[in-house]
Amino acid sequence: MQHGHTEHDLAAMRAALTLAARGPVANPNPRVGAVVVDRSGQTAGAGFHAGAGTPHAEVVALDEAGDAALGGTAYVTLEPCSHTGRTGPCSEALVAAGVTRVVFAQTDPDPRAGGGADRLRAAGVEVVAGLLEGDAESLNRSWTFAVTHGRPMVTWKIATTLDGRSAAADGTSRWITGETAQADVHDLRAACDAILVGTGTALADDPSLTARHPDGSLRAATPLRVVMGRRDLPPSAQVLDGSSPSVQLRTHDPSVALAALWDKDIRHVLLEGGPTLAAAFVRAGLLDEVVAYVAPALLGSGPSSVGDLGITTTPTPYASISRTSPPSGPTSASARPCAPLSAPPPRRPPPPTPPPPPPPSPPTGPTNPPPTLPPAARSSPHEPA
Ligand SMILES: NC(=O)c1ccc[n+]([C@@H]2O[C@H](COP(=O)([O-])OP(=O)(O)OC[C@H]3O[C@@H](n4cnc5c(N)ncnc54)[C@H](OP(=O)(O)O)[C@@H]3O)[C@@H](O)[C@H]2O)c1
Repeated sequence: MQHGHTEHDLAAMRAALTLAARGPVANPNPRVGAVVVDRSGQTAGAGFHAGAGTPHAEVVALDEAGDAALGGTAYVTLEPCSHTGRTGPCSEALVAAGVTRVVFAQTDPDPRAGGGADRLRAAGVEVVAGLLEGDAESLNRSWTFAVTHGRPMVTWKIATTLDGRSAAADGTSRWITGETAQADVHDLRAACDAILVGTGTALADDPSLTARHPDGSLRAATPLRVVMGRRDLPPSAQVLDGSSPSVQLRTHDPSVALAALWDKDIRHVLLEGGPTLAAAFVRAGLLDEVVAYVAPALLGSGPSSVGDLGITTTPTPYASISRTSPPSGPTSASARPCAPLSAPPPRRPPPPTPPPPPPPSPPTGPTNPPPTLPPAARSSPHEPA
């Protein structure tokens, strides 16, 4: 629905979207931007939502605009809310400021907050809905999914060899992906609210599950570190080091785990394995996206990337597959598994394709790297995740 708008409206909404992108990606609240223009079309105020507990974008923009908002237009990337949460309803604030026209992009999918457009119209404000809606939805992809489905979105990050092994027979898996993939994983982590592994991975790999810079320092984003399973972890486990929050969920039920995480304001979970836990999420229909790093290596033995899915015959053909295969060097790919995933949200973009890794370098990690493709095609070893 994009009628009733002008070029000026488009420019102002683009400015609001740029502002919205400055909000935190990992947050229980959506990223929202707002621009208020006065009667003459001059920008009078602008703002964005900086995360839960801070003022909504409209309120920031109205504060800056002051009296200039009277008779003006507000551009907001999300339908102004009509509910009182930690802050008052934005639709009322817009009416109180004397704004006579509101243009918004995404209709609020949150049933608690929606209805702002009706409230504005009832107060005599002209409302234009849906301008650059797809752009706004993309900004809040996981949030939109979460509020639409009433549970966190789950992205499964998998690092695998060409023959689908997630670790060597001795349990080691650190060398499977290279440095570029590792850096990409840390970007992924920083964009999620929680990082989840099973106790099997926590005990075998002792991962720290933090989002870090290439120099090893912690990023500002501190996703919740989650271990799922009943066994105790040793007090020396890195996930318990206090550098960022962590929790153990002593359940085997993915639904129960996601409900517990939802109650902790988690809206996007990065599932980092291992194969047993990944299989449990696939079987429960609670896996929404796959980001796969495929090493140009063969192992021939070792655990499979995913545990038993209960599939005994050839399933439906792949729904989609995309891949990046540089002419030389390691291969990285982003693909969807053939097992059914739960329904994607409307207009959700495909999973991110990791950038091509750098030229291969000689292995320095495992003392005995497994026999694989010729050395020129091997991925470099990497530090533990
Ligand atoms: N290449 C990769 O991308 C990658 C990623 C992660 C791990 N790995 C490798 O995977 C190996 C570990 O495999 P894993 O399968 O043991 O790891 P896992 O899936 O992380 O952990 C499995 C454990 O989680 C608990 N659990 C939680 N929910 C469960 C459920 N629904 N069903 C069954 N068990 C559940 C169980 O332990 P309790 O008895 O404690 O409840 C189970 O033994 C390691 O060698 C690691 O290096 C590789």
